[in-house]
Amino acid sequence: MKEKLLKLKEEIISKLAEVKDSKNLKDLEEKYFSRKSEFNDILKNIKDLNDDLKKEFGQLANNVKLELFKSLSEIKSKIENKENPKGDVDPTLPADKAEFGHLHPITQIRNEIESLFSSMGFMVLDGPELESDYYNFTALNFAPHHPAREMQDTFFVDIKNKDNQYDMVMRTHTSPVQIRAMKKYGAPLSAIMPGRCFRNEATDARHEHTFYQVEGIMIGENISFAHLKGVLELVGKKLYGKNTKLRMRPKYYPFVEPGSNGEYTCFLCAGKGCRVCKHTGWLEILGCGMIHPEVLKNGGIDSEKYSGFAFGFGLDRLVMLKYNIDDTRLFNSGDLRFLKQF
Ligand code: PHE
Repeated sequence: MKEKLLKLKEEIISKLAEVKDSKNLKDLEEKYFSRKSEFNDILKNIKDLNDDLKKEFGQLANNVKLELFKSLSEIKSKIENKENPKGDVDPTLPADKAEFGHLHPITQIRNEIESLFSSMGFMVLDGPELESDYYNFTALNFAPHHPAREMQDTFFVDIKNKDNQYDMVMRTHTSPVQIRAMKKYGAPLSAIMPGRCFRNEATDARHEHTFYQVEGIMIGENISFAHLKGVLELVGKKLYGKNTKLRMRPKYYPFVEPGSNGEYTCFLCAGKGCRVCKHTGWLEILGCGMIHPEVLKNGGIDSEKYSGFAFGFGLDRLVMLKYNIDDTRLFNSGDLRFLKQF
């Protein structure tokens, strides 16, 4: 092994001395110094030697390594100087143009929504993407075997929680942060909670396994449905223009009572009916309602004294509608031809 190493060292040193250009050097580096090189194999085998040999041979190998890397870096700078001699730079030439990126369209709208709500005194909060079944469902008043759980096709994760049970899921909505916020801050409380969510979807132009929502809650004494409507109307006007109207129709979610959807006047046809709104004049953007007393209780809030509303927007959908994007899969595609349009 020792001889093999010394022979290899001689070979490398003599090859290095013959290097003529950077291409040549690169080939040599690949052959003699890469992870797949013979030299590296020898170094890797040292750990299997017995202790005495390991000590002796290890030291030798280390010295060889230092010597080789030293000559490699000398040759490198020699070649660099030869191919790019100093003083051969024309400072009057224009520099290469730096390409600037910009924020993703979803981030842009998220920022807009965050600043709108901050201006109304809402906090902006974060929550974990890997959630417990408890926060994602149970605390939100989904009974253990209630069919409402099936409304959200879930990725269950093979990790035990701190009670040694398998109950971790990739959160299917931002609503679990409602409970976390209530427990942390108590009432009164106004907050929005934007974030990434996950569902086990067979993806198509309208469904993605990874998407964004913005959750919002306002809890206080005498908070009513009228407050909810007022806030949502304002959001619609801000996003889609001042003539935007809000329509609410009853919808079931276990964590609100009463529950409703939220639709805005189609911004494209101004309510007349078109392809985007499927000729209804309305675009369904959100779910909302008055927070269920059970949910307030699970958040540690006195449901006799306080009431509150909650809503959840699909951020991707909002952006799609705003820019007339017809395939939700484009958002995660990393396709610059798409992203550069915003
Ligand atoms: N979490 C619900 C969903 O993802 C939306 C929602 C949020 C509905 C808050 C009501 C209140 O479908």
